[in-house]
Amino acid sequence: MSFSNWYNRTLNKIWGFVEDRTSMRKWALRPQPEFTFKPSYWTGAFVVNAFLYQVVSGALLLLYYQPSTQSTLTPCGQAVGALSSSPAAWCSTFYIIHSVPMGALLLTTHLYGSYAMIFLMFIHFFRGYYLGVYKAPRELSWMVGTLLMVFTLLMGFTGYLLPYTELSVAATNIGINLAVQLPSLGPFVLPLVTGDGTAQGLLSRMFDAHVLLVPIALGALLYAHIALFESHGIAPPATSDPAQRRRFSEKEDKTAVPFMPHILFYIAKWGLLYTGVLFGIAALWPWQLPTYYGNTAVNAGVAEPDWYFLWLFKLIDFLGVTPLIAIGVTTVLIVFVLFLPFLDRSKRTHPRDRPLFIWLATSLLGFFIVMTVWGGETPGVQILPMGVAETLGPVFLVNGLVTLAFHWRYVRSYRRRLAARSNSFVGIYSSSTGSTPGRPVAEAMPRE
Ligand code: HEM
Repeated sequence: MSFSNWYNRTLNKIWGFVEDRTSMRKWALRPQPEFTFKPSYWTGAFVVNAFLYQVVSGALLLLYYQPSTQSTLTPCGQAVGALSSSPAAWCSTFYIIHSVPMGALLLTTHLYGSYAMIFLMFIHFFRGYYLGVYKAPRELSWMVGTLLMVFTLLMGFTGYLLPYTELSVAATNIGINLAVQLPSLGPFVLPLVTGDGTAQGLLSRMFDAHVLLVPIALGALLYAHIALFESHGIAPPATSDPAQRRRFSEKEDKTAVPFMPHILFYIAKWGLLYTGVLFGIAALWPWQLPTYYGNTAVNAGVAEPDWYFLWLFKLIDFLGVTPLIAIGVTTVLIVFVLFLPFLDRSKRTHPRDRPLFIWLATSLLGFFIVMTVWGGETPGVQILPMGVAETLGPVFLVNGLVTLAFHWRYVRSYRRRLAARSNSFVGIYSSSTGSTPGRPVAEAMPRE
């Protein structure tokens, strides 16, 4: 027997044994059409991979991290600069980096892993937006997804304070000052996040939120998100034909592959690649811990958050934008995304059929990119209204013009194709059966 035969038979035997004892296939999600074996169909699963890595690496960091603002009497590590008067939260972080075997790699992968998770989540979100996956029957998947986005960003926000550096304390305070401006909810936010009002109160609550409360909420929302995904199945490719939207073709149904083990292994393969790349980047560019909170001997620089909140910090730099306005803009954005499935009522999912919403998406994307770069380049520098108009105006304007031009071109060629198609139907029906073509318009529409 050749090696590959022996190998496959052994694998089959092991799999059969496990399957027999666990009935694993019963827990598996539903089979999916073969054509979904492309990364773009599994962007959400990549976010799950990133989330799982965060859970594992976070659990390991918990073995050493101390959520205390008290000065430690023990040295933080062997390296020079590890002052014993620093807060324990910072000191234990320093210890992880300098004294725990592979500690620097662990901490850096946890930090970069959070960036990657947020980045992948934005890809998942924008892909869903452009391809209209939020349309019926997936409105609730979208709404739960929006909550997942808010809670994922909250994970980033609560984790930022934990190393307890000058920068992280200052940026967290700015964030809290923004949050207290929330209409109705604001007054409850302050006591909720700061507790007794002391520095320790704030750190304890942020720690609790980061390692327990927000992950539990994320886990519960993720369960609901995946359960809804299981009910509706994967969204079909974007189309101009509403009739095609709810079903796959017979051929695609026949080629469906089981989730366990095929799709699971496919996702796991990407998960392994993700972890490898994360480790590589973290090994090449390990994170440098800034100075601890309370160290007045060192200039900590301008307080700024991680990249995903830079746009909001830059917004406050605009002349005339108060924290209340900034938090108002954020609330409007979240509400818009949450209710998007009910705002975009057209039944067609193809981007070319939704010019207004595509213009909004591309403008928002452009807005976030410009604001993030701007925030990183000139943190804390005030911007006059003219500067705002000159920088952001073109983003909305050029997008509008490009979207309009594409839409105009599409409508013209679409009408031409539609006319040609209905002429050919009339020809077929009148010549072969002599009957009137009673086909619904949706079916008669040209497929892409
Ligand atoms: C922590 C963040 C998130 C995680 C872990 C997550 C996970 C997933 C997973 C595993 C799927 C199954 C299909 C796939 O892998 O793409 C999925 C589908 C989906 N997600 Fe998310 N998601 C997250 C955030 C979001 C956000 C922010 C939105 C939109 C606001 C969203 C909307 C959807 C929708 C509509 C589907 C069904 C799409 C389809 O069937 O192709 N998700 N998500």
